[in-house]
Amino acid sequence: MQGWTEGYVGGIGYIHAFYRELSPALLSFALTLRGWRSPMDLAGSFTCAEIGCGQGVSSAVLAGCHPDARFEAVDFNPGHIAGAQRLAAEAGLGNAAFREESFAEYAEGGAKNLDIVTLHGVWSWVSAENRAILVDLLKRRLRPGGLVFVSYNALPGTLAYMPLRRVLVEHCADRTGPLPERIEEAVAFASRLTALNAGWFAQADALPARLDSLKRKSPNYIAHEYLNRDWTAFYHADVARELAAAKLDFAGPAVPMEQMDELSLPPDALPLLAEARDPAYRETLRDLLTNRAFRRDLFLKGAGRLTAAERRDRLRATRFALLVPPDDLPEVILAPVGRVPLPQDLHGPLAEALAAGTPTLAELSALPALARHGEEAVLRALMILTSLALAAPALPETGQAARALQADRFNAAILERSRRDDTLDTLASPVLGSGVAVSRLEALFLLARRNGTDPAATAWEALSADGLALSRDGERLDGEEANLAELRARFDRFTRLRLPTLRRLGVA
Ligand SMILES: C[S@@+](CC[C@H](N)C(=O)[O-])C[C@H]1O[C@@H](n2cnc3c(N)ncnc32)[C@H](O)[C@@H]1O
Repeated sequence: MQGWTEGYVGGIGYIHAFYRELSPALLSFALTLRGWRSPMDLAGSFTCAEIGCGQGVSSAVLAGCHPDARFEAVDFNPGHIAGAQRLAAEAGLGNAAFREESFAEYAEGGAKNLDIVTLHGVWSWVSAENRAILVDLLKRRLRPGGLVFVSYNALPGTLAYMPLRRVLVEHCADRTGPLPERIEEAVAFASRLTALNAGWFAQADALPARLDSLKRKSPNYIAHEYLNRDWTAFYHADVARELAAAKLDFAGPAVPMEQMDELSLPPDALPLLAEARDPAYRETLRDLLTNRAFRRDLFLKGAGRLTAAERRDRLRATRFALLVPPDDLPEVILAPVGRVPLPQDLHGPLAEALAAGTPTLAELSALPALARHGEEAVLRALMILTSLALAAPALPETGQAARALQADRFNAAILERSRRDDTLDTLASPVLGSGVAVSRLEALFLLARRNGTDPAATAWEALSADGLALSRDGERLDGEEANLAELRARFDRFTRLRLPTLRRLGVA
């Protein structure tokens, strides 16, 4: 292991992933719902720092859709930063800086000018010393009124996975050879242990599902999730108390649905929760009652309250966009309280209205089919859809033309990359101010539309150059003719079913 990693896993890069939770429109929405003043003007300029940015994909995509905002992304892994800088150069991102620095170096290196600091996938995976440095960084660099997003493995839910993590760590240490191979072997070994159904394995109900999901994850993800020297799960109260040293107060969960008690808790829980006076204690009790294993929290430095009228006006002025075709919306969702049906007389007309444009909450609530449900019910439906990544709050219309220009340049670079690899799968949406995931095939179809070339031929040229071929009904298709025919059928489906959504989101 290299000396600079401070116990963090070395020698293997993190995955290229975009996390929508970090998008300013979503952060603002979550704050407004809780009645807090957001530190950023979504139509104007603000400064955002992502600390421990990995491959920098989230910051790059967000910079691609916010030309007036500035993004600083920090990571001490030179491989991560070199890749992110290459992407920024290819996409002509003038508003993003990718810095190869440790937390301590970044803490010392600038003014108290950050509006948002995001710590995604960092807090649970670094040492207590490094968490103290992060607190110092927040003290020095976050401006008054500023927002912190922090995610971490939470207690009590993570307790269920601690022995699994130990098996993975010990098994990898017990072997020699390339780390990805050792990780694969460790996951297979843990599955064999689970199959014995003995001792702890017999009691760990959630384990088979977790192992199944691990089998689908890359070794890069597993290494960064499980193999760091430091791996700590936290009670919310302990995180809140550590961050209090940076003058930060808990502002609420970043996921809107987690604010909805009726979906999270049995009705009898509310009076019990009300007995807890300290908000950190109360939030921790919520985690016990929902057995939460992962948290995404928002903290504010010098939190400012909105008046009830300001909160209502901001929510009413918020536009919303649908992220999927309207027919794909579920009729029932799975919440911590169990299966919850979504009333179709509300969700049907809501989906229809969202499919037709990017209406504000006020516009939606005024539609006859929705008005009879009342604005609060429409808002709660939007909170659910937003939390499930089926809809999202959009940015204000002001500035959309400038955003579209920058996003288009960014997306051109991503689509061009799809000719030679499938590592980057996220386009920048000037409507959402967030990323939109596309498969490699979708990216190649969009590239062909953009360049006026034949979509099937463009896709086949890229896939065949990589030795890839399509499958139909589980059978690999041999030869150019069969693959081109299948590609034409898939392009037709793409045009009918997917393109309308991508157009609505401003990425096609
Ligand atoms: C699990 S990754 C999360 C990446 C990214 N935030 C995301 O969610 O996609 C954590 C990152 O923190 C970086 N990191 C860990 N300790 C660090 C330190 N002391 N200084 C700077 N970066 C660090 C690692 O290199 C790694 O890329």
